Amino acid sequence: MRTPLIAGNWKMNGSLSLVETFADAVAERGVPATVEAALMLPAPFLSVATRAFAGQPVALGGQTLYHQPSGAFTGEVSGGMLVDCGARYVLVGHSERRELFGEDDAAVLARVQAALTAGLTPVLCVGETLEERDAGRTEAVVLGQLAAVFDALSPDERPRLVVAYEPVWAIGTGRTATPEQAQQVHEALRAHLATYDPTLAEGLRLLYGGSMKAANAAELLAQPDIDGGLVGGASLQVDDFLAICQSAG
Ligand code: PGA
Repeated sequence: MRTPLIAGNWKMNGSLSLVETFADAVAERGVPATVEAALMLPAPFLSVATRAFAGQPVALGGQTLYHQPSGAFTGEVSGGMLVDCGARYVLVGHSERRELFGEDDAAVLARVQAALTAGLTPVLCVGETLEERDAGRTEAVVLGQLAAVFDALSPDERPRLVVAYEPVWAIGTGRTATPEQAQQVHEALRAHLATYDPTLAEGLRLLYGGSMKAANAAELLAQPDIDGGLVGGASLQVDDFLAICQSAG
């Protein structure tokens, strides 16, 4: 069975003291043993978080990486550097990266490959805009984003990813996809993965993201093809984040 993964995405928010607050709360309250929890943190917090969460059931991740391993790329962070700081995961292709920083499918693929080379688990984000949904193009868009990466990977590489479906219109808007809408897309994603290999489709975790919170997590996570959540806003409140972890247990 697929272990549910609840991954917080702090985006460009938080502070070192919030890292400490989370680490103390997790030490005190824990997360269900059947759930994997992770926090995708701003890169400058990772080393401190690695120490703060030592021995605790929270994995750490970065929010982006550059596709080159090192060099004259001022401001960028490599996969190897994230690993050095204790990261196990990295988000790739988040809609904010695609929209605000111009990362297209080719750039997303290069980053996924760099993450795999560094030994990280890439969390590949896919999702349609409201315009695309209204035009009836949801599946075409998300399956296109998925195929742009999975077509280029080897059969050994594909199972090393996590995929997050995040409808762009649901991110940070308070407007969550209904469990049925989310399930429909997750089912289509899993069916596409099965065209590569049924075992891949069976084992790969598909997260839902977009205004997931304590109040709606349980019904989303109850869907057969939703294996966890990528949580933005609600992951900055420790009570909310831990409550979502509880509802995945
Ligand atoms: P949200 O963000 O939960 O604040 O909608 C989700 C995300 O962007 O990963």
